[in-house]
Amino acid sequence: MSKKILITGGAGFIGSHVVRLFVNQYPDYTIINLDALTYAGNLENLKDVESKSNYRFVKADILKTEELERVFAEYAITDIIHLAAESHVDRSIVSPLDFVYTNIIGTVNLLNIARKQWALDYSKHLFYHISTDEVFGSLGETGFFTETTAYDPRSPYSASKASSDHFVRAYHETYRLQTIVSNCSNNYGPNHFPEKLVPLFIHNIIEKKPLPVYGDGLYTRDWLYVKDHARAIDQIFHKGQPGGTYNIGGFNEWRNIDLVKLLCKLMDEKLGRQSGESEELITYVKDRPGHDRRYAIDATKIKQELGWEPSVTFEEGLSETIDWYLTNKEWLQHVTSGAYQHYYQSMYVNR
Ligand code: NAD
Ligand code: TYD
Repeated sequence: MSKKILITGGAGFIGSHVVRLFVNQYPDYTIINLDALTYAGNLENLKDVESKSNYRFVKADILKTEELERVFAEYAITDIIHLAAESHVDRSIVSPLDFVYTNIIGTVNLLNIARKQWALDYSKHLFYHISTDEVFGSLGETGFFTETTAYDPRSPYSASKASSDHFVRAYHETYRLQTIVSNCSNNYGPNHFPEKLVPLFIHNIIEKKPLPVYGDGLYTRDWLYVKDHARAIDQIFHKGQPGGTYNIGGFNEWRNIDLVKLLCKLMDEKLGRQSGESEELITYVKDRPGHDRRYAIDATKIKQELGWEPSVTFEEGLSETIDWYLTNKEWLQHVTSGAYQHYYQSMYVNR
């Protein structure tokens, strides 16, 4: 069957890479990118696919039931890959309700439409929900998150994602909707909005602005190149077990300060600056409240069951990422003008 896949949040960071992969890899599918174009949504991310005959864009809000119903009626959607979300922990600390609306209520809205529209035969359709490893909480020095680790969210962001994951599982158990959830570690790569660590620091190094490291800088994250996440989503969508969950990660843990120093070194080389110049921009600032100490994914199941593993090393991915930002200065200029300046002032000045 020729699928008509609704990808929500397709104008965002990860969503745009997933849309590109599906549009290029599956010419027989129709890919409908539904996005509300919030501050994080940017159609410039998809310039290279916008004229492809199997691609459609719809500006719509997952909180508006009638807009979703219209899209289902027009395109006879067969499957959903759901990425639309509020995604930044620091924003969730300032405005938790925005995260409740989009991440929880928006997801339940989508589940309700799918349940209604696909009721004739649930076995022909898949609702694939993209989630995060942050739902599992914070690790100590050792151990990994597996698919059976108990949920223990500690930020408004992760609490909202955990809640949406629970609703997805509940719709599978209660209504037999075919669902899959995947929980991925921190992504980095091209088209990442400069509010998250990697793109914010690349931007600040270019501009020779302070690099605000939270707390003692010894917090640890497990980094995965965004294109490898998109490849994992492709594998899971086509071969994953309905009702199941998959953890996605790169077995690639870095303490923030070590990552920042590597970034500084690579950028000094690429920008022709003196060795050590960018490191001088490192500034320790007030910590994030409730800051999770360590995330680390055990990605054994997806490797054994689906044969997926990362295709690039961290150094390769980071180098490609920096090159992308250096050759796409206009993209960076567009997203850092206007509202971004207010955001930066309120989050970082006098922190
Ligand atoms: P992002 O913030 O870059 O993009 C989110 C997209 O959703 C934007 O295009 C935005 O316009 C859209 N959106 C927001 N609210 C909407 C609404 N009400 N209706 C329709 N569209 C709306 O996020 P991202 O980093 O690409 O993350 C995508 C998904 O992956 C999220 O669900 C996130 O929780 C998950 N995730 C992210 C990471 C990461 O490291 N970034 C890791 C694991 C999982
Ligand atoms: P972030 O990119 O916001 O991802 P998440 O909080 O979802 O893991 O942050 C990654 C790590 O970097 C996290 O430990 C917080 C830290 N951080 C800073 O030290 N300074 C910053 O300006 C930002 C945005 C993050």
